[in-house]
Amino acid sequence: MALLSDEELAKGDPVKGQQIFASQACAACHQVTGTEQPVCPNLSTIGTQAATIITEAGYQGQAQSGPQYLYESIVHPAAFIVAGFNDGVMPNNFAATLSQEQIVDIVAYLNSLKGG
Ligand code: HEC
Repeated sequence: MALLSDEELAKGDPVKGQQIFASQACAACHQVTGTEQPVCPNLSTIGTQAATIITEAGYQGQAQSGPQYLYESIVHPAAFIVAGFNDGVMPNNFAATLSQEQIVDIVAYLNSLKGG
């Protein structure tokens, strides 16, 4: 599976991404504030965490940057299963149900979530 380049991913619009995140199923599962993580990872600091996750020993995906990790997590959730969570919960068909532009906008939005 090919990931987009950082240059392509940097073109996303975080404001549009936030709207798409809220209108798609994403927001039903993921919290973007606080620290609570019931069934799905809390994404309130994913904008800084993403770059760290890809350096962890257990990471087996293809991403080489934080934004690429976010893109990969959306189009191919099984590339890396976040510790403590289960595979098969997050839908794996967003690459088909969302346009590439929408996914790039969501990546820009998630990349802006740095807590505080
Ligand atoms: C039905 C619940 C569900 C929905 C809907 C869902 N996710 Fe997820 N998501 C999960 C679960 C569970 C995980 C952790 C398991 C894994 O890594 O696949 C996850 C993992 C992630 C991760 C990696 C988080 C980390 O800490 O590394 C990101 C980013 C993400 N989802 C974004 C999204 C976006 C964006 C959408 C909407 C387009 C979405 N998710 C929709 C359940 C969901």
